[in-house]
Amino acid sequence: MLPVRIAVAGREQLLAELDVPLELPDLLAQVTEPVRDWEVEIGFGKGRFLLEQARANPACGFLGIEVVSKYYRHVRDRAARDHLDNLVLLRGEARYLLAAVLPASFARSVHVYFPDPWPKSRHHERRLFDPESLDLVLRLLHPGGVLSFATDFLDYGKLVGELLRAHPALKVETAADLWGGRARTHYEDKYHREGREILRFEARVASCENLFHPLGGRGVVAATAKPPEPPESVSQIVKSDG
Ligand SMILES: C[S@@+](CC[C@H](N)C(=O)[O-])C[C@H]1O[C@@H](n2cnc3c(N)ncnc32)[C@H](O)[C@@H]1O
Repeated sequence: MLPVRIAVAGREQLLAELDVPLELPDLLAQVTEPVRDWEVEIGFGKGRFLLEQARANPACGFLGIEVVSKYYRHVRDRAARDHLDNLVLLRGEARYLLAAVLPASFARSVHVYFPDPWPKSRHHERRLFDPESLDLVLRLLHPGGVLSFATDFLDYGKLVGELLRAHPALKVETAADLWGGRARTHYEDKYHREGREILRFEARVASCENLFHPLGGRGVVAATAKPPEPPESVSQIVKSDG
């Protein structure tokens, strides 16, 4: 796996040089006003949405995650050129970063737009959304926080919609005109111009009591080194029988 790289306004560090989970406000040392709200984009690609949002909302912190170095470097250089001191970029694998590197409950929004659909069934395990990785994504949100999702890959979108609706902590909204006024991502703009159908969801964390999907962890098996001793009453029965 590539080493995780972190860039803030062009200053770049390796994850190994920082404490984990990341103290995000400490990374924004050049911002004079303390940043209270954070938004995250997973898979920012060419960074069009992330850069525009960071420019338009200087009092909010933005965190972008991207695994492809070419896109990461492109957005890192743009952020440095435009002095976007409220933007933290992570080059790395999203599921690793969500599970091991990022703090919990710090974001008001998580944006996932046009994630790779991995259409072949043997590749489905690479998708960002299954019950387990959905729990990792939701872990970033504080109560009341919102996950925004869009795709043109309607089969995948339908599955993600079912997954979100089956989650006990979420209130899900679907609408063709969600986020009509705000910056579009590269793919959103391209597909919009082509007139392609786009599925959009917004899922709000309405309850903080159960942040686990009922199907999450279904593949987890726990084994102990030795089987537990039977309760005393049972061993007494066995002994007296024998
Ligand atoms: C189809 S592009 C969409 C880019 C952008 N969101 C847009 O709408 O224009 C999907 C992006 O997610 C990134 N990506 C895919 N899997 C990833 C992962 N596991 N971790 C981080 N980024 C990932 C890809 O490198 C790519 O840039």
